[in-house]
Amino acid sequence: MLKEMKVLASGRMRQAAFDILDEKTTLTAWQKGGRMPQEEFEKLLSEADALFSAGNIKIDEALLSKAPKLKVAAQSSVGYDNIDIAACRAHGVRVGNTPGVLVEAVADLAYALLLDSARMIVRGHQHVKSGAWGENKGLGFGVDLAGKTLGIVGLGAIGAAVVPRAQASKMEIIYHNTRRRADEEKLGVAYADFPSLLAASDFVLVLVPLTEKTIGMFGRKEFALMKASARFINTSRGKVVDTMALYEALSEGRLAAAALDVVDPEPLPGDHPLLTLPNVTVTPHIGTSTVETRDAMARLTAENIIAALEGREMPAEVRP
Ligand code: DGY
Repeated sequence: MLKEMKVLASGRMRQAAFDILDEKTTLTAWQKGGRMPQEEFEKLLSEADALFSAGNIKIDEALLSKAPKLKVAAQSSVGYDNIDIAACRAHGVRVGNTPGVLVEAVADLAYALLLDSARMIVRGHQHVKSGAWGENKGLGFGVDLAGKTLGIVGLGAIGAAVVPRAQASKMEIIYHNTRRRADEEKLGVAYADFPSLLAASDFVLVLVPLTEKTIGMFGRKEFALMKASARFINTSRGKVVDTMALYEALSEGRLAAAALDVVDPEPLPGDHPLLTLPNVTVTPHIGTSTVETRDAMARLTAENIIAALEGREMPAEVRP
């Protein structure tokens, strides 16, 4: 009986998911913000049939060994670098995520950061707020997007949604993936190997998932290949970038600007050296943070859980 199945949520869950799971299963959700106290979490985990993850916990051997009844771990995010997929498989736990429903929201933020890196929107606001507007202390000039080359590293569904936005700004788009896309012509993008993309781009946008192969993908060597006038935008995962190498490139004038929704570490302390630089904008990992998208992600996570508990095909299952 589905109603007897115990679902545990590791953190606050949106009402859209709460309503579905509360009606159909026996739900325990920590709705107070932050995380459930560890002792209580582990007690409930030992009985849980399903885990609703907000992405704020590691789902690994240590957790799985405390969850003998667990059948499914469903996470409200597209990225699942906090989940040991092989360990889940070994424990017979199915894994769900939320691709698709968040594409437009993340593409919007990536495009917004691209614009900010070119036009210093956040810096302009700080300039006005500090009272410097009337003092003849210029902000300096930004740069046009039109006619510039955007290099997208990791052109998947989100990248494909950024392409028409950037084309609306009359940009040329090149991309690098481990496997070339079959629809390059239709999308209007050209393939480049990684070093060539770095050397040719005026803007580099990173959208790769975090894997063993992409950790530290952008370090001293890669920043050295980029133009000194280039702008760097990251909306994927912070650990893809060596933060100190980025800091050095920006502070030594070897890179013009960076706009980052993801950083390493997260949360970034307010006194981090990166934040002392005038040419950096950092947002607090808000790529999916819109009402509509978070509701859709919550609903899809709940639907993944129900489908797995009923032994059906999950709407979005991560397969090894
Ligand atoms: C995702 O869905 O992976 C977003 O980055 C939120 O974690």
